[in-house]
Amino acid sequence: MKIVIINGSARKGNTLTAINAFIKGASEKNEIEIIEPDKLNIAPCKGCGVCQCSKGCVDKDDTNPTIDKIAAADMILFATPVYWWGMSAQLKLIIDKCYCRGLQLKNKKVGGIIRMCEQVAASGNTLILYSA
Ligand SMILES: Cc1cc2nc3c(=O)[nH]c(=O)nc-3n(C[C@H](O)[C@H](O)[C@H](O)COP(=O)(O)O)c2cc1C
Repeated sequence: MKIVIINGSARKGNTLTAINAFIKGASEKNEIEIIEPDKLNIAPCKGCGVCQCSKGCVDKDDTNPTIDKIAAADMILFATPVYWWGMSAQLKLIIDKCYCRGLQLKNKKVGGIIRMCEQVAASGNTLILYSA
């Protein structure tokens, strides 16, 4: 299975530690690629809607090559630190940009790594979810 991990953290921190644990367990039988939004040049979605009647996003940046990788995967793993009770801007940026290829992502397996700070986590501070 081809797995794409979207790393919503810019740090070599807790989210990356959880991603590496996932890779350790999953790399033997799967092909894994990590997308690092923080290292890419991707403009935020402007909601222009042009992508709904053309082949992709109109932005001539890293958007379309990145969404190509996501569309080619069997499973998408969304990984994010909790920022203000939500996902990081880096992860949201990529999810918004998937609007141009939404139907192609419809039946994929998905997973999530959600990392919060220790003080507010009642039982553990990393949540890992996935669809079978
Ligand atoms: C801008 C910002 C907002 C944050 N908001 C929350 C929050 O709402 N709840 C929480 O539990 N932790 C919050 N944190 C803490 C991070 O989720 C936590 O430190 C996480 O482990 C960082 O992951 P990383 O090491 O991969 O960067 C916030 C951190 C930052 C920088």
